[in-house]
Amino acid sequence: MTSASDLHDRVHPAAAVVRARLGDRAPRVGLILGSGLGGYADRLEDAVAIDYGELPGFPASRVHGHAGRLVVGRRGGATCVAMKGRVHVYEGHSAAQVAFPARVLVALGARVIIVTNAAGGLNPAWAPGTLMLIRDHLDLLRDHALRGDNDDRLGPRFPDMTTAYAPALRALVKEVAAAQGIDLAEGVYVAMPGPTYETPAEVRMLQVLGADATGMSTVPEVVVARHMGARVIGISCITNQAAGITGAALSHDEVTETAARVRTTFEGLLDGILAALVARGELA
Ligand code: HPA
Repeated sequence: MTSASDLHDRVHPAAAVVRARLGDRAPRVGLILGSGLGGYADRLEDAVAIDYGELPGFPASRVHGHAGRLVVGRRGGATCVAMKGRVHVYEGHSAAQVAFPARVLVALGARVIIVTNAAGGLNPAWAPGTLMLIRDHLDLLRDHALRGDNDDRLGPRFPDMTTAYAPALRALVKEVAAAQGIDLAEGVYVAMPGPTYETPAEVRMLQVLGADATGMSTVPEVVVARHMGARVIGISCITNQAAGITGAALSHDEVTETAARVRTTFEGLLDGILAALVARGELA
């Protein structure tokens, strides 16, 4: 097993493979696109796509048909690097492996990471299809992306998480959503290990703990982005009410169908966020 203290020497070679394909373009925004939301990568202009299999250190997805690729291109005046497809802890990877691609996005120059996911709604007032801006998170994964030796070249041993989801960028997202007439919710995301959906008893526990949306991703990537000093915007698509709220069984089909239904709204919001980040000099 490689130790975390040589992480720098694994992140930068992967970034170099990408950079060799980009010419003089340097991405300033990293997009991590969640279940059913990956189509946005195909909207990037003048795009270069690289299969994860070509990138040293990228974990291979073990879910058949979810190969995954990095797409670099422009949108809303911003040069973006998008992850179309991500791996999860439930696939058998460590949290550090899951988060490795996010480190490469930051090494490529991303100042802001926009991380998206599909999540179950814990707040019973939220209908499926609600978009939730992540204000903060609870980490109930049983592994941590920074476990092991720290590589001081990448970031500090004990990163502060007080403003993990940058307050100024949350304000920006809220303004963009209001201008587009989107009724954006805001709340706390909890990461659960999966791959089962929660039991109704777990859902009641998570509600008591103060969470508003539950999913199986996002936290490892946010942790490494903050470790390396990037700012983070997180958006959950509430694809279903969490287990037990309606009593209906949960299914992956419902998750992907809801994500597909809000796709246009979601993509419009991302377009608006990118344009606002550029207009306000947040990517300098
Ligand atoms: N729970 C956990 N992860 C999810 C859910 C859920 O209800 N919906 C989509 N991802």
